[in-house]
Amino acid sequence: MRHLMSPLDFSVEELDKLLDLANDIENHPEQYAHKCEGKKLAVAFYEPSTRTRLSFESAMLNLGGKVLGFSSADSSSAAKGESVSDTIRILSCYADICAMRHPKEGAPLVASQHAKIPVINAGDGGHQHPTQTLTDLLTIRSLKGRLNHLTIGLCGDLKFGRTVHSLIHALIRYPGVNFKLISPDELRLPDYMKDVLHAQNIPYTEMERLEDAMDDLDLLYMTRVQRERFFNEEDYVRMKDYYVLDKTKMAKAPEDMLVLHPLPRVNEISTEIDNDPRAVYFKQAQYGVYVRMALILTLLEYAKED
Ligand code: NCD
Repeated sequence: MRHLMSPLDFSVEELDKLLDLANDIENHPEQYAHKCEGKKLAVAFYEPSTRTRLSFESAMLNLGGKVLGFSSADSSSAAKGESVSDTIRILSCYADICAMRHPKEGAPLVASQHAKIPVINAGDGGHQHPTQTLTDLLTIRSLKGRLNHLTIGLCGDLKFGRTVHSLIHALIRYPGVNFKLISPDELRLPDYMKDVLHAQNIPYTEMERLEDAMDDLDLLYMTRVQRERFFNEEDYVRMKDYYVLDKTKMAKAPEDMLVLHPLPRVNEISTEIDNDPRAVYFKQAQYGVYVRMALILTLLEYAKED
């Protein structure tokens, strides 16, 4: 049985195959419309979400399957004190595959150890968000044509941003990538993530001003300052509008730089650039459905082989 906890659970070759499958789904959706007939996806979301949960649901419905689940901890038996390991034992009786989001780091991993069905980590605290990373990789590969030799700006909340942590893990496996880490001092990339970069000799620079990073980027990955991960409101208020990507800053960027954002956006990208062809964050959300379809098919296939 294969689960997906981190983007590293797939080898580079397996990832390539998954992204190829996602592109095929994009081009021939009708060929996949009945692939999951009779199958059920459980969505166990203990933390709010729009895109991730609904894109999983949309993915399963597009495949002809069905969906059941809950979208907050207080609408599940967690409110009565049930453990994640008990809940997943139960969901294993009701569904064929499960996508789980949890505010605690490691909760989906615990679930996977007690599950009889494949479990997908749909975001665990400030730790990992592998299906967002699959979405990001598919977006970059489809629109940029490659995943290697990229200069990538990561901007915003690099401390708590699980999307950033997962994306770094995935991209450093491709040759020639380097990072510009753009954040306020308080939200810098944690040391345990910098160790990952050092261990593989990946070049990176840390900077505070977004303007200073723009001139040679292939990609700019914007993130939101995450209110729910702050211990006090004052710090959040001080940092929430630290970065605003607007037309003036975009004028400094290369013609072919792509702007990605896992969304939701708050103020960090001005709506005035939404129509700039380099702004691809809404397309990125669409790629998220194709890649989740590919992931569901792939994990169900592995489960069948067991
Ligand atoms: C991200 C997340 O939940 O980590 N959103 C998402 O899944 N698309 C980023 C965020 O919430 O800021």
